[in-house]
Amino acid sequence: MGMGAGTLTLSACGLIPPASRFANPTTAPVILTPLASIPVSLAVDLTAGRTTLPIFSGAETPVWRYQSAVREGGAESIQTLSNSYLGPIFRVKIGQRVQVRLKNDLPDPTIIHWHGLLIPEEMDGHPRYAIAPGESFEYDFQVINRAGMYWFHPHSHQLTAPQVYYGLAGLFIVSDDEEAALGLPAGEYDLPLVIQDRIFDSQNEMVYLANGMMDSMIGFLGDTILVNGAPNAALDVKASAYRLRLLNGSNSRIYKLAWQDGTPLTVIATDGGLLEAPVTRGYITLAPGERVELWVDFSERTGSEMRLVSLPFSGFDNGGGMMGGGFSLPNGAPFDILRLIVGEKGADVLPLPAKLSNIARHRAEDAVNRNNPRSFTLAMQGMAHTINGSVFEMDSVARNEIVQLGDLEIWEFANLEGGGGGMGMGMMNMQMPHPMHIHGVQFQILGRELAQGNELIYQELSSGFVDDGWKDTVLVMPGEKVQVLVRFENYAGTFLYHCHNLEHEDAGMMRNYKIEI
Ligand code: C2O
Ligand code: CU
Ligand code: CU
Repeated sequence: MGMGAGTLTLSACGLIPPASRFANPTTAPVILTPLASIPVSLAVDLTAGRTTLPIFSGAETPVWRYQSAVREGGAESIQTLSNSYLGPIFRVKIGQRVQVRLKNDLPDPTIIHWHGLLIPEEMDGHPRYAIAPGESFEYDFQVINRAGMYWFHPHSHQLTAPQVYYGLAGLFIVSDDEEAALGLPAGEYDLPLVIQDRIFDSQNEMVYLANGMMDSMIGFLGDTILVNGAPNAALDVKASAYRLRLLNGSNSRIYKLAWQDGTPLTVIATDGGLLEAPVTRGYITLAPGERVELWVDFSERTGSEMRLVSLPFSGFDNGGGMMGGGFSLPNGAPFDILRLIVGEKGADVLPLPAKLSNIARHRAEDAVNRNNPRSFTLAMQGMAHTINGSVFEMDSVARNEIVQLGDLEIWEFANLEGGGGGMGMGMMNMQMPHPMHIHGVQFQILGRELAQGNELIYQELSSGFVDDGWKDTVLVMPGEKVQVLVRFENYAGTFLYHCHNLEHEDAGMMRNYKIEI
């Protein structure tokens, strides 16, 4: 179907977006029809509640978890992880209509946000839609994202970080024909892997914010790495090629991912799906909220073990020894993440295609604000991390937070919390990385610029950025400015943008922006 030809009338709440009068490169062509006329492919009940799980030997660990039950549609669309607090994995196709009934069996208000999905405001999980304990919320939307790994997690006011921490998160994997034609590793050779860090006490209970105020200011950092909810994670794999889909689902930890033996990593996808072509990195820098997909060939490695690790880096200077609590390990601490134990021969390995997908490139000269990027200054004020001097307000949208539906814009995130630039505010000179996330869109990274004096830590992480494809979250390093090209192309409404360091988000490093017709 031709780009821009459809009339977008899909919305659960009767809101009718205007005719789509622009190219729509984020999404593969879908049949744009009113939501009510699309058959429901999948209807799922998700109950957010409390339970206990055997994560370690000995006492079970109290966790929060989404329990799923398929009401309608193929059970193969929902995959659960046994003995994991992580929510189910949705596997859907572009164009499908999905209904989810969220039931809140938690002691606190909650709501689900579908991170990376292009859906109407009412479906996006803004904290103003949070439901009280005992209540339910009905989601109903069409999947228009291209193939990729998206995810979902709570987004209730000032409670996102603890709710994710205690276990609430799941994956939403979309496939499409472009991807299917590539013959990438599939089925048992397609492994979604969620990386998180936690602290457990001697009763095997999760400990949150053990260092009090400092944890909230810096962000929670644990000492135990879990993959799909399991510590000391190990997987038996076959001697074949695999697709590893990695999500950094941690509250604030940044990983410097590598194979322990120095084998380069082959990256095939980022937040918004496949790259145009595979890229190779010695290591990958993965910040909270970001996804990256790897293609790896174990076919010549029967009997051996590959380890995915997080390499050491210097860490950020958070004001001189203030990480004194001693309950957590700082950013930059090295970790083993996952052991892959290679067994007998599996499926024949198909060569990885040199071309993976088509990505329509946004051009800076097409942006409506090409001469005057919309800038967002990230800085510390008092004890708070702010965006343009403000913290989150539930209903307010500032004048510089209004955009027009259909416009392509340059957004610039400027992180003044650098060490070398003399930008320390007040008594503290914090070096804080901020993974910035925009709801309701996928964007492209236009460029990065570093203020002098911040090179040391930057150079330890920057060759691990994968900026080539569609993104919804981008790490903005201390002293750095990152420009992104973003088109507000699908739905009008009020959406969020925020730091995906979840403690920063809960402390107010989040704002509304409004897409107007
Ligand atoms: Cu994954 Cu508003 O966040
Ligand atoms: Cu999001
Ligand atoms: Cu932040």
